Amino acid sequence: MKYIIAIIQPHKLEEVKAALEAVEVHLITVSNVLGRGRQKGFTEVYRGSREVGLLKKIKVETAVNEDFLESAVNAIETSCRTGKPGDGKIFVIDMAECVRIGTGERGPVAIG
Ligand SMILES: Nc1ncnc2c1ncn2[C@@H]1O[C@H](COP(=O)(O)OP(=O)(O)OP(=O)(O)O)[C@@H](O)[C@H]1O
Ligand SMILES: [Mg+2]
Repeated sequence: MKYIIAIIQPHKLEEVKAALEAVEVHLITVSNVLGRGRQKGFTEVYRGSREVGLLKKIKVETAVNEDFLESAVNAIETSCRTGKPGDGKIFVIDMAECVRIGTGERGPVAIG
């Protein structure tokens, strides 16, 4: 079991959702987040001091069984790549457990 966390450009959300649906990944969590990558966010002058800012990003999370890992990562990657700075990142984490609270199911069967 893996947990995929993708930090993407907000305007790519609809494309990512469609790309994930196309590979049968329907269960996702989406949040609005702030972040900065290696460009350290935009800088702005505020009362004379330079501030390092945070950019609006979208976080897309999905827990998947191993069979879906490659296709899910590829779906996010290909739908978000423009080649410009800020396209985003995908983090893949080993997931120890999943519990569907309503039934008590555990493990891979509880994921989807
Ligand atoms: N190492 C990291 N740890 C935590 N969050 C990160 C990390 N790298 C990137 N992020 C998050 O992902 C967002 C998008 O990152 P971004 O695509 O700008 O990566 P980058 O390393 O700067 O590459 P690029 O040069 O293509 O912009 C960041 O705004 C931040 O929220
Ligand atoms: Mg960047």
